[in-house]
Amino acid sequence: MTTHANAESETRLRAETRIREMALSVAVASALQVAVKLGVADAIGDEDADARDLGLAVDADPGTLARLLRALASHDVFEETAKGSGRFRHTELSKLLRADAPGGMADMVLWAGAAWTWDAWPRLEQAVRGGKPVVPELYGKDFFSYLKEDAGADAQVFNRAMTQASELTSRAVADTLDLEDARTVADIGGGHGHLLRTILERHPHVSGELFDLPAVVAGADAALRAGGALAERAGVTAGDCLHEVPVTADVYVIKQILKWDDERSVRVLRNVAANARPGARIVVVQNLADLSPEPRVTTAMDLFLLLNVGGREHDKGDFEDLFRRAGLEFTGVTQARSALYLIEGRVPAARP
Ligand SMILES: C[S@@+](CC[C@H](N)C(=O)[O-])C[C@H]1O[C@@H](n2cnc3c(N)ncnc32)[C@H](O)[C@@H]1O
Repeated sequence: MTTHANAESETRLRAETRIREMALSVAVASALQVAVKLGVADAIGDEDADARDLGLAVDADPGTLARLLRALASHDVFEETAKGSGRFRHTELSKLLRADAPGGMADMVLWAGAAWTWDAWPRLEQAVRGGKPVVPELYGKDFFSYLKEDAGADAQVFNRAMTQASELTSRAVADTLDLEDARTVADIGGGHGHLLRTILERHPHVSGELFDLPAVVAGADAALRAGGALAERAGVTAGDCLHEVPVTADVYVIKQILKWDDERSVRVLRNVAANARPGARIVVVQNLADLSPEPRVTTAMDLFLLLNVGGREHDKGDFEDLFRRAGLEFTGVTQARSALYLIEGRVPAARP
């Protein structure tokens, strides 16, 4: 074969391999989830470990466990010390699956494979054809009602995964947020309050209010609650931001919430503005599809949101439009030393 023909067939082979890898990628997702469920990352210490001992430790068939670990090792999650040795050690990636890893991602992995996802992904074609979520039809209720009423342990996993994600990014957001002229901050849909706690620790002159659904704030960070280390500067309000946001603050943070349909996103922004003073700042903290440094994650999340809440990831221009529709002035966008952006608007002096 000529050099040209060789190069062409190599290119073709690479393309075929990539398609095969993508077509089978559910195997990686599933293997990752099983590794977390079994607690393999916790069973491997600082030294390498034999699959037979690991099998005993995590209650799995040793030969099959070795196959699972090899599948993951092909993605640099765990490493076999020598091909076929059956001995495995940690890699930088597998360490993130340890339950006690600082900034660990075990709950994020479990959340990505929660029970509803295995019902919903096979209906992606239906969602794409109709442009609508599939969770309401699957369970007869909207996603957050399903989560609260029927999801059982997956609801805990969701809240923990949100806290884990917050731990990874809260510091960057708190550092980037300009609070020099602010005295009060409210975190709307703030989950258990990890970001708010980080903001209060980083900006000692500021007081804060956590706002989320009643079942969620019931598990709020102890530091924010009565008797907690930050209790004197913190409050907790339970409510539904689609209904009303009875909180007054100089700066409202809305992180990773405005991913549902536009009508609801505008409603939340309007509800926040309804109790806000003129000039109050509204800072949406979110990924931006057009500026994302991790486009494969952002576009996968876009489909995830389509399936569960009929939502989407947004571009910068979408936010300019959402702010305008909610009667807010769009003031700009800043990257928060992560994949997240601070997208900022202001309640106008004279309301339209
Ligand atoms: C994707 S999580 C983001 C949590 C947190 N802001 C963060 O970034 O880690 C979405 C949050 O919105 C809250 N949420 C959903 N619907 C809500 C509603 N109608 N009113 C208030 N909070 C709501 C959820 O309970 C959850 O804490």
